[in-house]
Amino acid sequence: MAWNGRHFLSIDDLGKADVLMLLKRASAFLDMGDEFAPDAPLNEKLVANLFLENSTRTRCSFSIAAKRLGGDIIDLLGSTSSASKGETLVDTALNLEAMGVSGIVIRCSEDGAPASVAEEVAVPIINAGDGVSGHPTQALLDALTLTRYFGSEDLKGRSVAIVGDIAHSRVARSNVQCLTMLGAEVTLVGPEALLPTDIDCKCTTAFDDVLSETDCVMMLRVQFERDAKVGDDYRAEFGLTEERAKSFDGAIMHPGPINRGLEMDDAVANIDSSPHNLILSQVSSGVAARMAVLEHLIG
Ligand code: CP
Repeated sequence: MAWNGRHFLSIDDLGKADVLMLLKRASAFLDMGDEFAPDAPLNEKLVANLFLENSTRTRCSFSIAAKRLGGDIIDLLGSTSSASKGETLVDTALNLEAMGVSGIVIRCSEDGAPASVAEEVAVPIINAGDGVSGHPTQALLDALTLTRYFGSEDLKGRSVAIVGDIAHSRVARSNVQCLTMLGAEVTLVGPEALLPTDIDCKCTTAFDDVLSETDCVMMLRVQFERDAKVGDDYRAEFGLTEERAKSFDGAIMHPGPINRGLEMDDAVANIDSSPHNLILSQVSSGVAARMAVLEHLIG
């Protein structure tokens, strides 16, 4: 195994061979279905979920992944931890380490905070989403979903359009890195005000032009909690409406949670809307991708 990093903070921590190795392992876990890993690589290991921002998919899937690997997990949430009394993230992590956890999964609103914690603690730190900077395990699970959908090892020759509130999206930032590394051509689509200035990638406002050519659309949530502003015409201009979806036969993705009726119509979001709707496959892939990461770093 090539990847010898202690932490997983960014897709930048990995080379293409590392990503392919993790995808292969995750794919094997996905094939196991709901079974527990027979060799229990996390036996007697305790992982901490330190979530200072809300989450459904990422937090639950790390918990399930740790348990399927034979380990256990404790949840520490911002609202019920001493972070709410002003304790720093580094102090919180040092305390968890002193209690004997074998790794810490961190979600927080501060860009770069998991990397700062990683400089202070000995146990592996896994970034579960920091501010608008990165969400590397989301990018891995998206790559796993797409490679399985296309039946290929990598994404050479495939095109992916990431659509919506790119400016506030850590998912977009990590996905541009990961999908590009795997050979996909990535285009970022959104209103001028929500296109990024800091991502080296093709950008456009012309959604319909891109939709007619792309193999996959990854719709993103408008992040109102990060002060994203959209006009009344957002759905008409940038939403995956029922009408648009009818004329599109590529893969449909969304990392969730979805603003139904805004970036994606209800009828399109419903899983039985199309065999190309991969939204819940992404969620299943999330458990497997996180099993591969936990096994590699902590197992
Ligand atoms: N996709 C994603 O990160 O979802 P959660 O915020 O529910 O974890």
